Order: sequence, then structure tokens, then C-alpha cells
Amino acid sequence: MMERDERKMTDAQNEKVIVALDVDSPEDALALARNLQGTGCWLKVGLELYAVSGLKLVDEFKELGFSIFLDLKLHDIPTTVERTLRVLMKAGVDLVDLHCSGGYEMMARAAEVVHAAGKKVIGVTVLTSMDEEDLQAVGVNATPAAQVVNLARLAKKAGLDGVVASAQESALLRQAFGPGFLLVTPGIRPAGSTANDQVRVVTPREALAAGSSYLVVGRPVTRAEDPRQALFDLWK
Ligand code: C5P
Repeated sequence: MMERDERKMTDAQNEKVIVALDVDSPEDALALARNLQGTGCWLKVGLELYAVSGLKLVDEFKELGFSIFLDLKLHDIPTTVERTLRVLMKAGVDLVDLHCSGGYEMMARAAEVVHAAGKKVIGVTVLTSMDEEDLQAVGVNATPAAQVVNLARLAKKAGLDGVVASAQESALLRQAFGPGFLLVTPGIRPAGSTANDQVRVVTPREALAAGSSYLVVGRPVTRAEDPRQALFDLWK
């Protein structure tokens, strides 16, 4: 009985994990998806995989029962973003994203199209690869943390469902924007594992405790010998 309850708990936690399929071959991506089928986790398709396989693969993942985050980080004039989203909404995509720095009008029109299709859209605030000096070089005189909050506020006003942000910012954003705002956070590493090139890392449990809604996890699962086991091991 105890064991079954623990299993149920892990399944519920897996539903908060979005596995980033950062591979450049549709065959590798499908093999990973089949390995992870039935665990409850989401899949994230980024630019690399989208460039080789487009939406066809997304539909195949959907047929395997996955929820899909299509991470294309759109950033263009409002009409182009709106028209692109109209196309993407016809595929089996559940969550999409765009750069908040595209502005209020772009985000508001995106939210309208995505919500009409019953899907969700989140905003990328400041890329975690950028520090204060990088922001100044593109004309932004704010610390990364302050700029994350500025852009998240604008995203919320424009009707977006939430933001992508570092798990280290979850507590701050949860406090500032309340319980309904989606916080999708990369930079997750199981306790005691390698950080790869992520500089600031947080464990899965810490991220959830800090208020993350979904955890984006890539290499700790996709590069594991047994990805399915690695997914369950996130909660050890
Ligand atoms: O392998 P790893 O767990 O580091 O993968 C993290 C995923 O999250 C990658 O797809 C990466 O592009 C994405 N991501 C990130 N940091 C951000 C935004 C997205 O690591 N700020």
C-alpha cells in the first residue's frame, strides 16, 4: 500500500517535469519518447529538433500521450507572431513561448490566439546566459533580476500565462505574481549530479518548494543510460 502511494506521488511529480529533447535526430527523439511513455512527464521540442522534424514529430509525441511544450521563443512584429501561432495551434502543442521583449502588443495578440485554441503561452524574460554587462550592451540599464520582474509584469498585464525563468528566481516571482502564474524553470539538477554547463542549479524538490510550476530537465534524463529510471530518480 505504502509503495503504491509513493508511486502515485512520483507520477504526480513527473507531471511537473518537462523533458527537453535536445537532440538533432527524429529517431533519437522518438526512442526517448517511447522510453518515457506513460510516466506522466511532458516533452519539450526546441529549435534544434523543430529544425529537423517540424510539427510532424510533435503530432507523433501527442499520439504517444505526451503534453508538448514547443519552445521556439518567438520574437517578431505582432502580426507575424500572431499568424505563426495560428499555424502552430493546429498541431498538438499545449504550451508555446515568446520573448517578452517583443512588447505588450505582440504578447497580447499572442495570448488571444493561443487562448482561443485552449492552449497556454509563456514569456521568456532575460536569458540566463546574460549578465548585467550584457544587458547594458543592449541598452537595458537594470540588473537581470529587476529586468526579469519588469518583463514578467508586462507579460502578466498582456495576458500571458506565465514566464520561463531560472529556478533560482522562482521564489521571488511566485511572491510577486501570485499562485496562478506559471513558472517554467530550467537549470534543474538532481542532488549530487553534474551541472554540465548550467552555472546556477537547483534540485527538483528545491525548485518545486520555491514555487516552480514546471521543471525543464534535459541532460540529466536524456543523456542517462536509462532515461525512464533517471526521471524517477529525480525525486530520490
Ligand atoms: O540539459 P539541461 O537540463 O541543461 O537543459 C535545459 C533546457 O532548458 C535546454 O533545452 C535549454 O535550452 C533550456 N533553457 C535553459 N536556460 C534558459 C532557458 C532555457 O537551460 N534560461
